[in-house]
Amino acid sequence: MEAEKPFLEVCLTPALFYQYDVLQSIVVVIDVLRATSSICVAFQYGAHCIVPVTTTEESLAYREKGYLVGAERQGSMVEGFDFGNSPFSYMDDKIRGKKIALTTTNGTRAIDIARNAAMVVVGSFLNIDTLAEWLIKQQQNVVCLCAGWKDTFNLEDALFAGALAEKLQPHFRLTPHRDAALAAMRLYDLARNDMYEFLAQSSHRTRLEKLKVDEDVLYCLTPNQTQVIPVLRGGVLYNLRDMLQKDKGE
Ligand code: MLT
Repeated sequence: MEAEKPFLEVCLTPALFYQYDVLQSIVVVIDVLRATSSICVAFQYGAHCIVPVTTTEESLAYREKGYLVGAERQGSMVEGFDFGNSPFSYMDDKIRGKKIALTTTNGTRAIDIARNAAMVVVGSFLNIDTLAEWLIKQQQNVVCLCAGWKDTFNLEDALFAGALAEKLQPHFRLTPHRDAALAAMRLYDLARNDMYEFLAQSSHRTRLEKLKVDEDVLYCLTPNQTQVIPVLRGGVLYNLRDMLQKDKGE
C-alpha cells in the first residue's frame, strides 16, 4: 500500500495560528515584504546567524555582545541600528561570518509564534525553488504561516503561500481545512504574470511606496535570487547548509 502523503496547510494570518497543530509539522514563515526576504539575503551574503527578537530593546542589547543589530518599525529603519529591513542593506561583505539580531513589525514576531513547531524555516520568493525542493524531500507535514500585518491578512504573503503550495501540491495532500491553501493558489494564479501590478493597491506596497522603497518590492518579488534555507534552532536562525556541515563536524 502506498504511504499517505504528508499534508500541506496555509495559515493566512498569525491570529489563526493557534488552530494549527504544528508539533509534527515544518512551519514555513512568510513575510515577503520584507523580513523573510532580507533574512534570505543576509544568509546568501554569509551571515553566521540571525537572532529574531520581538522588541527593539532586545535587538539593541545584542550590540554589546558583538552582534550587528537590525530593527524595522512601520516599514522604516529604527534610528541607531545597523540595518532596517531592506534586502539591499544586507548585500554587504561586512556581514560575512557575523551574528545579527533583528526585530521587525511582523516577520520576527511570526517566527516567534511558530517556535514550537517540529521545525521552522523561512520562505520568500528569493529562495522559493531551493525551499520547495528541500520540503519535497523531507516527507513531512508543512504549514505555511503568512506573517500578514499586525494579525491581519495581506496579499503578498498569500501570493507566496500560493506559489509555494502550487510547487508542493503534487507531493502533498490538502487537509479538510484546505480553503486557505486553495485561496492562496487561486490568488497566485491570478497574479503570477505581474505580481507587482497585482499588488498595486495593497496596503504594504502602498506603505513602502510612500517610503520610496519600491525597488525593495520589485526585488522581493523576484524568484530565486538566493539558494539558502534559513532554519530556526534554539531560537536562532542559521543557514541550513552551514548547520548541517557543523553537525557533521566539517
Ligand atoms: C515586517 O516584519 O512587518 C516587515 O517585514 C515590514 C517591512 O519592513 O517591510
